[in-house]
Amino acid sequence: MHQEAWNEELQALREEALESLRLSVDEASLEAWRVRYFGKKSQLTAWSRQLGGMDPEERRAVGQQLNAVREVLESGYKGQLEEVRAQAIRHQLAAETLDVTLPGRARRVGTLHPTTRTIEEIEAVFLALGFTIAEGMEVETDEYNFEMLNVPKDHPARDMQDTFYLTDELLLRTHTSPMQVRVMKQIGPNQPLKVIVPGRVYRRDEDDATHSHAFAQIEGLVVGEGVRMSDLKGTLEAFAKALFGQQQSIRLRPSFFPFTEPSVEVDVRCIQCQGTGCRVCKDTGWIEILGAGMVHPHVLEAAGYDARRFSGFAFGMGPERVAMLKYGIPDIRLLYQNDLRFLTQFRRVLS
Ligand code: PHE
Repeated sequence: MHQEAWNEELQALREEALESLRLSVDEASLEAWRVRYFGKKSQLTAWSRQLGGMDPEERRAVGQQLNAVREVLESGYKGQLEEVRAQAIRHQLAAETLDVTLPGRARRVGTLHPTTRTIEEIEAVFLALGFTIAEGMEVETDEYNFEMLNVPKDHPARDMQDTFYLTDELLLRTHTSPMQVRVMKQIGPNQPLKVIVPGRVYRRDEDDATHSHAFAQIEGLVVGEGVRMSDLKGTLEAFAKALFGQQQSIRLRPSFFPFTEPSVEVDVRCIQCQGTGCRVCKDTGWIEILGAGMVHPHVLEAAGYDARRFSGFAFGMGPERVAMLKYGIPDIRLLYQNDLRFLTQFRRVLS
């Protein structure tokens, strides 16, 4: 072949191969391309073999051209192979994309029951005042629930606290006051103490907007030498201010409990109207929140204390009543119906 003809043939092969290379867009077709243009049966190989039969000058010229075409095709092949592999990885990554911006599945977080929450708030106030917390049992003996609290069998005061009897001697406690004696027996005799006792109590009452046959109480007991009525008043006033605000004040009214002497009912300024008079306080400006008094000497003695040296005060409050006042809950039964529409309104923001 003439040198001109060689040139044309080689350029034609080059163009054809490069065009075919552009169309080879995956590794399999690229491999087929490589075999076709560089394999043993390729045109380039066949032409290389012919070089041996040429005279030196022609061999040099054609050889150079062959090499030039081979180099162009080789580097084109390498470039295309890289591109095809990069493309495959891009496709794979796109297919495996995980959309991390999708909103997660929300979990329903529980909330504290308004009664529990109120008990915890009351506990926090008394813990800050140096009280400790004790707990008793809901099944009590007649002895602790009544007799040691100065309420003998057949005492008319038992009528106010009729309850569920398990046996003649075992009953569901009607108040947390039996824990007064149990705590004194545990810590005493003749040791000072400041304790509160939250717990559930029972009475044989008809359920209505303000009564429940099962409800919560928090008992308070302070015993020491020289504990006086003014200590009772100061402690409960500090409590009322801590729970309802510094503007709060309290009022004591004479009352009767067999286990305290003297006994009082403690009122706070009406939370609804601040004392001007409204439906909640029945226009009195005051709301009763607890019963209290100086611990009766008989109770101190029943617990083994020397009632001539030691004195104390006790109080008992209903946290449900406090919760109802604080949150404007009109019916105590709402606290026992487990209606989520009601309960989730007391969602505490967790920090
Ligand atoms: N235990 C009384 C009641 O349930 C309340 C009370 C407690 C009164 C302590 C005085 C002292 O009604």
